[in-house]
Amino acid sequence: MSLPSIAQDIKLVKPDKSGGIPLMQALNNRTSSREYDNRKLTDEQLSGLLWAAWGINRPEEGKHTAPSSNNKQEMQVYVSLESGLYLYVPESHLLKQIHNRDIRKSTGKQDFVEIAAVNLVFVSDLIKAGVTNPEKAGPEALNTSAINTGFMAQNVYLYCASEKLACVVRGWMDTPELAKAMELAPHQRIIVSQTVGYPKK
Ligand SMILES: Cc1cc2nc3c(=O)[nH]c(=O)nc-3n(C[C@H](O)[C@H](O)[C@H](O)COP(=O)(O)O)c2cc1C
Repeated sequence: MSLPSIAQDIKLVKPDKSGGIPLMQALNNRTSSREYDNRKLTDEQLSGLLWAAWGINRPEEGKHTAPSSNNKQEMQVYVSLESGLYLYVPESHLLKQIHNRDIRKSTGKQDFVEIAAVNLVFVSDLIKAGVTNPEKAGPEALNTSAINTGFMAQNVYLYCASEKLACVVRGWMDTPELAKAMELAPHQRIIVSQTVGYPKK
């Protein structure tokens, strides 16, 4: 008898904060890639990737590896893997499972998104951002969140450059379809996605 699948969070291993190539080399190697194979990231890489994106680097102040306007910290990093959709919880450095469906295909319009191991989706929580009428807010309400996301996405690019992983930030997607697949609330708005995986050999 097969049992119904149950929600499964992923406790990420401790990030290695002493590793990586020199910063100037990472900047020199940063690039967007659109050819991936389906190999999974190691536990250490998944941990390092999420910590680079939006981990807490000053626990005593609860502050992150990327800045946010007025320290509102309204950004959320969702992680689409073959095993399901997860929300990164920086305070406990774990991936909270939202559901166990593989929605990588819905994260973008390009073929490689369903092949690559990881697609990050950067989401703004407009309630946390302090926006009036968050459920009805127009695109202008997302300006600062878009800037915040730029920093996070660049952290991911640099981590990938250091790990020799392929990476590309992406705005080309069907946002309403993706929001539905992610079961987002109306005050949660998608900014961009970012694919990460092993480069095609
Ligand atoms: C906001 C933004 C959205 C982007 N959207 C996509 C996208 O949907 N698909 C894609 O393949 N590349 C996308 N890119 C990547 C750019 O095409 C890429 O950065 C540009 O061609 C320069 O290449 P480089 O990143 O290797 O320097 C996006 C980049 C940015 C900053």
